Amino acid sequence: MQRKILVTSALPYANGSIHLGHLVEYIQTDIWVRFQKMRGHEVHYVCADDAHGTPIMLRAQNEGITPEELIADVTKEHQADFAEFTIGFDNYHSTHSPENKALASQVYLANKEAGHITTRTISQAYDPEKEMFLPDRFIRGECPKCGADDQYGDNCEACGVTYDPTELKNPVSAVSGATPITKDSEHYFFKLGDFETDLKNWTQAGHLQDEVSHKLAEWFESGLRDWDISRDAPYFGFEIPDAPGKFFYVWLDAPIGYLASFKNYCERSGVDFDEFMKPDSTTEMVHFIGKDIIYFHALFWPAMLQGAGFRLPNSIFAHGFLTVDGKKMSKSRGTFIKARTYLDHLNPEYLRYYYAAKLGSGIDDIDLNLEDFQSRINSDLVGKVVNIASRCAGFIKKRFDGKLAHSLSEPTLFKEFTDQADAIAQRFENREFGQGMRDIMALADKANQYIDEMKPWALAKEEGKDQQVHDICTMGINFFRVLIAYLKPVLPQTAEQAEAFLNIEPLQWSDISSPLLAHEINKFKPLMTRVESDKIEAILEDSKQSMVAETPKMKKPETNSDIEPIAEEINFDDFAKIDLRVANIVNAEHVEGADKLLKLTLDIGLGERQVFAGIKSAYAPENLIGKQTVMVANLAARKMRFGLSEGMVLAAGPGGKDLFILNPDDGAQAGMRIK
Ligand code: 2FM
Ligand code: ZN
Repeated sequence: MQRKILVTSALPYANGSIHLGHLVEYIQTDIWVRFQKMRGHEVHYVCADDAHGTPIMLRAQNEGITPEELIADVTKEHQADFAEFTIGFDNYHSTHSPENKALASQVYLANKEAGHITTRTISQAYDPEKEMFLPDRFIRGECPKCGADDQYGDNCEACGVTYDPTELKNPVSAVSGATPITKDSEHYFFKLGDFETDLKNWTQAGHLQDEVSHKLAEWFESGLRDWDISRDAPYFGFEIPDAPGKFFYVWLDAPIGYLASFKNYCERSGVDFDEFMKPDSTTEMVHFIGKDIIYFHALFWPAMLQGAGFRLPNSIFAHGFLTVDGKKMSKSRGTFIKARTYLDHLNPEYLRYYYAAKLGSGIDDIDLNLEDFQSRINSDLVGKVVNIASRCAGFIKKRFDGKLAHSLSEPTLFKEFTDQADAIAQRFENREFGQGMRDIMALADKANQYIDEMKPWALAKEEGKDQQVHDICTMGINFFRVLIAYLKPVLPQTAEQAEAFLNIEPLQWSDISSPLLAHEINKFKPLMTRVESDKIEAILEDSKQSMVAETPKMKKPETNSDIEPIAEEINFDDFAKIDLRVANIVNAEHVEGADKLLKLTLDIGLGERQVFAGIKSAYAPENLIGKQTVMVANLAARKMRFGLSEGMVLAAGPGGKDLFILNPDDGAQAGMRIK
């Protein structure tokens, strides 16, 4: 039966470039969509730029342009990057669009009508110079509990405590440097708790991956709190109906942006929006997302949809994060690789294949190991798949006028290849792409083995062996065609070139079982070249360069990037008091009950020290053990909730996933003083 499926990938923020981390999701979704289309289903794959919010507003101000100009520039860049990675969106729109404005109002008003919206006055930090309320990220100060300096407005990375931004001591606005004042204002809230019973059922009803359902069950235990959906002017977003000066929080209209993009597409293409969105729809709606935004998609989103009388998603497929060479992407190592930098040097299909080979259906992180990437592309795609065609095509072209034989000499062997079609289809359907790629490569090995054994090149030199050469090469070309069909969702451009070479119509899944016989093929041109090491080195080098080139452009980068304002001046004596040492991380472990902290055991050559570091969001303990870092060795020990912390490690970055412990270069030894 033909399925009708609306598919989305998360909407990228309109204030930064697409990088290889983002591409995990777009490539994963695109493979799934291409597979479904090849199966003959009606699939609509939509996306958009996520254009609203304070960071975008402030970045536009810093650049001296309007937010509209900023998002127009960024969407061009995003769409060009996606197109070159052949991410086949059927529509790419913006959350700053008339459709989204109308739908956001509709969803809000329906929920309001049904009693799911409430208001109350809250106190928030306010920048009196900039005349704006400050999101937590834009306030810095001392932790109210342990006194650690320069903490974000919502949690302390030193002691792990969470608090209200108004509790921070000596706070400063990261926007203007002014001391924030506390100001009251009325906010609008979505009463998530109204949906508790339905959400409990829905989140355990097979719409989510098992590990996600389990996590959600824990969140229910701590209760569902009202969700603050309004922000005060100035804010780049949509004004809330009948609430002058109040705007929808970006996360309210972001998922509605999926529907806005779809609506915009329906209006142009004649697809029936209501058929997809009505509560009893028999169509499917599927969202691919990163595991960091599960809360929004598995709780707020279904609740908002239900309150507005729309259908709920069938599936939310979360994936893990990308690491490069086993570590978080790092600008200084050159592994924070933008889509464009990659495209400047390498074929996008390589990355598509590599991600496919690494992806499963779970939420584990995936690693782009650059050496493995190079060898896998060279051995699997160039050495195995493309090689089959290049070994057979010349004989067919030169000796048989490009015509394949009239029948298969080894139909049973051919059937071994086509019999896998259902199993491989299941791998794609279940997002077990890695296993699928292994199945396909096992067949590629078999095809090469057949050619190795048959040695058409040797037979071609013998008298009267023409028929055999014709038969063997016809088998080879047919193996190649089946493999290309299997790989087509992953390698659409290569498949298109292969279809041109085979002189056939675009392959569908249903074509796989019938062999290509008595058919004229075209001249073979190499479909892919090997990945050379210098290309990878060039990508790393350019990624380091692009970081250097960007830094000076950021006029007031503290507002929207990982570059913070310079702290208060100190004199040399103040500086000289700090004893920084190279430390070996001999152990790292989770701390029971702490959201942010890891317990590190550090060796600085003078005995071991125990340090609690707020870096859990960025590092798994096992990835830290054996590394070196820099510690403040003469910081007075502090008693923390979880034990004594005897120093502090140095890390850089805005926080969350973007936190990087300082890692001395090779040659540094534990205990060395940093001067
Ligand atoms: O986390 C993000 O990058 C968000 N821009 C994703 C939004 S997805 C959807 F809800 F719009
Ligand atoms: Zn603290």
